[in-house]
Amino acid sequence: MKLFDVYPLFDINVVQGKGCHVYDDKGNEYLDLYGGHAVISVGHTHPYYVEKLTAQLHRLAFYSNSVINKLQVELAEKLGRASGYDDYSLFLINSGAEANENALKLASFHTGKKKVVSFAHSFHGRTSAAVNVTDNPKIIAPINHTFEVVYLPLNNIEAVRRELAGGDVCAVVIEGIQGVGGIQLPSDEFLRQLRQACTDTATVLIVDEIQSGYGRSGKFFAHQYAGIRPDIITMAKGMGNGFPIGGLLISPMFTPSYGMLGTTFGGNHLACTAAIAVLDIMESEKLVDNAARVGAWLMEQLKQLPGIKEVRGRGLMIGIEFEAPIKELRTSLLFDYKVFTGVAGAHVIRLLPPLCLSMEEAADFIERFKKVLPSNA
Ligand SMILES: Cc1ncc(COP(=O)(O)O)c(C=O)c1O
Repeated sequence: MKLFDVYPLFDINVVQGKGCHVYDDKGNEYLDLYGGHAVISVGHTHPYYVEKLTAQLHRLAFYSNSVINKLQVELAEKLGRASGYDDYSLFLINSGAEANENALKLASFHTGKKKVVSFAHSFHGRTSAAVNVTDNPKIIAPINHTFEVVYLPLNNIEAVRRELAGGDVCAVVIEGIQGVGGIQLPSDEFLRQLRQACTDTATVLIVDEIQSGYGRSGKFFAHQYAGIRPDIITMAKGMGNGFPIGGLLISPMFTPSYGMLGTTFGGNHLACTAAIAVLDIMESEKLVDNAARVGAWLMEQLKQLPGIKEVRGRGLMIGIEFEAPIKELRTSLLFDYKVFTGVAGAHVIRLLPPLCLSMEEAADFIERFKKVLPSNA
């Protein structure tokens, strides 16, 4: 049987990882400034993570959500403390798209409405409701068009106020920092005004922290720079350091009922163990602070390099925009200088390294990056 061919692949067979490096089957070492798309938070094969998962695997890998699972409770307690959302509730699921899917359902159950406000260049995943609020018509199938979505420009509060004035919107969904859209930041002021506009009109505010959350921005969630509290926060990527897990933090204003949401695999024993291990490591190694510190240093260095149009981001979520397309530059960085990076569109390199990136590794990246810059700085 062939694989359904939907991914353009680099001809590299990654077989091993350690910290901020991965290795291919030929023994080449790569610096990982991509984190497998913002997924690797505490580093590849962290010994504590491996030990905890191995032990759990020997004990119990899975049982269903029909019985008590104390690992879910432990995860909720630790996550509440780490994120500052102790008073919220946790619903566990398997991926980012599913987290947004459930957040939108919850907003719709709660308000009885179904129109959603989203933003230009947003990406929220590929399940039905999540893709319908994603600003990319190419990936929205006809079957996904089940409710009205209005895409507004980021940072334009007047446009939001006008839309919410109609009284027919159930939710506004916004990324903490737009990832796929090219590392675009909602301003802190805009987020505060958005929070107020949603409160004034009883509209549910969903902040998608699937890429920008879990310490990546240098705070636990990127929206915390603005000092706001959304009604629902969605998360996934860094949560399990590669083990599939996603979740929703849900404000106390929502009342759960049996059967309202559900999942077979979400919150299973292995997934919870991975997520608990991640939080333990993040705390003991102070990885949120590390992301803030190393990220700030990286951005400062990048801003001094020639040939770059703009450097944007927070913490270890950084976009480097060029006037010219970056395809060749990125390919050279990967094959000639052995650095994995991400992209956003044709002009932006995305850096999403593990949160444990050291200053030395960051400096190593800058040296390799200089070699591929247009003027070879
Ligand atoms: C902001 C954001 N939301 C949602 C998703 C979808 O997550 P998943 O691919 O786990 O479904 C992504 C994935 O890139 C994302 O960046």
